[in-house]
Amino acid sequence: MGGSDSSGGRRIVEIDIDRLPDSQPTRFEYNDQALLIVRIGDKIYVADDECPHEGCYLSDGHLDVEDRTITCLCHWATFKLDSGESLTPEVTSKPLKLLKSRVEGNKLLIELE
Ligand code: FES
Repeated sequence: MGGSDSSGGRRIVEIDIDRLPDSQPTRFEYNDQALLIVRIGDKIYVADDECPHEGCYLSDGHLDVEDRTITCLCHWATFKLDSGESLTPEVTSKPLKLLKSRVEGNKLLIELE
């Protein structure tokens, strides 16, 4: 599905965009890191797949395409995909951890820490 490169101490993971399903949360594993990737049309969001509440997989969660949010099915925390902000502070006020990414051609390049 992808490859990797490292430059300047950062690891870059490459994924073919054509292989990312539209409007469906996707889990991508690289070494010991699990990422949540959400593609909605031309827009792609990348985040840590572990819910900041208690670590359930957000790729198993509910995606609201219109509101651009993902809801964890364990305790119903909802996060904004563009900012990571929690919309359910009664469950957790911790934000979703977003990862830097960019599109080059038909590749999604994700910067890992
Ligand atoms: S683990 Fe996600 S809401 Fe609790």
